[in-house]
Amino acid sequence: MTSLELRQINKSYGAYHALRGIDLAVEEGEFIVMVGPSGCGKSTLLKTIAGLEGITSGQILINGRDVSKAEPGERGIAMVFQSYALYPHMTVAENMGFGLRMAKRPRAEIDAAVTRAAKILRITDQLEKRPKQLSGGQRQRVAIGRAITRSPDVFLFDEPLSNLDAALRTQMRVELSSLHAELGATMVYVTHDQIEAMTMASRIVVLNQGLIEQVGSPLELYRNPDNLFVAGFLGAPRMNFLSVNVDETSGRSVRVSAPGLSPVTVELANPVSLHKGAGLTLGVRPESISVVADGSEAGAIEGHIRLVEHLGRETILYVDAKDVRTVASESGTGNVTVQLSYVAPFKIDQPVTLKLDATELYLFAPDGGRTISSRKAIIDL
Ligand SMILES: Nc1ncnc2c1ncn2[C@@H]1O[C@H](COP(=O)(O)OP(=O)(O)OP(=O)(O)O)[C@@H](O)[C@H]1O
Ligand SMILES: [Mg+2]
Repeated sequence: MTSLELRQINKSYGAYHALRGIDLAVEEGEFIVMVGPSGCGKSTLLKTIAGLEGITSGQILINGRDVSKAEPGERGIAMVFQSYALYPHMTVAENMGFGLRMAKRPRAEIDAAVTRAAKILRITDQLEKRPKQLSGGQRQRVAIGRAITRSPDVFLFDEPLSNLDAALRTQMRVELSSLHAELGATMVYVTHDQIEAMTMASRIVVLNQGLIEQVGSPLELYRNPDNLFVAGFLGAPRMNFLSVNVDETSGRSVRVSAPGLSPVTVELANPVSLHKGAGLTLGVRPESISVVADGSEAGAIEGHIRLVEHLGRETILYVDAKDVRTVASESGTGNVTVQLSYVAPFKIDQPVTLKLDATELYLFAPDGGRTISSRKAIIDL
């Protein structure tokens, strides 16, 4: 059953169009993760679902009921913010029962809901404390507990873990995933954290400038991005984008090359009509590049190491390949990023020969960056 449906949601702040025709159907029990650059409209979208912001046009349905104009308290949602927004003068138990007290539920029902939520979140022994006597992680649990006690149809989370330290964040991430499994609840979760998005989501929604770029399972989006934006947004370190030209096309493959890059053939799942000499963007993830001895191989790039990051289980190389033209490069250091899954004794300024894995290449159209060729999805130009 569809738990939450957004139909053509538009939201303007004066002349600024913050949400531009958002369509999304969320099935009951799904864990939807929203990602996108700062300012793309993630919080605005959650707030319109919650009813904290009105919409300019469109419809919001929760369990089939149009709640577009309903008060926040009547929508069957609960929202958890980054700032826990707990009442400092109330105990943990009072904070958690607040929503139900406001709804004038009977005392016994409130107590039962608080007890149950505290048990799920393992804060039963903290119930009489005040928020200031709790750690950040415990406070975040109380905020989540307050949402659970209301048994909402849809949970909304806006970067709930971003104030926590790395270890606690990992722990809470795992706890939230099991909470989701336990409650079977529908959740919409906003985060900037790639690992949270990849590990928690049933489906990820990538937003950009108030528009949905793509919706899909984490691996679908990672392996078959619809366009250059999604390809560049998911994955850290980010995908490399090189400016290339078509040398030759033969039915199911296209050979591309560029200054500083020896010709490499990209296999296509479907034939694409491309002109010889056409300019395209070649995408290659940092983990699909290796360091080799022989520069005469296909897809080879010569460069110098600008920076090495030894992360223990992996090594990241930022390489300056001076002849290679990159597109939408972000890293201020070097223009090709390489991720090696081993400890490599590389040093700054060392010359290296890189080789792109020809089976892991992406091609994007020049304007708009639509994907021409990815792991599976192929679109004709
Ligand atoms: N009350 C408001 N008045 C005018 N503009 C607003 C208002 N609230 C948000 N905006 C604008 O709408 C856009 C989307 O804001 P929003 O808070 O949804 O971004 P976000 O995706 O949550 O970003 P972040 O990742 O930084 O939290 C921004 O450009 C912001 O400046
Ligand atoms: Mg936000």
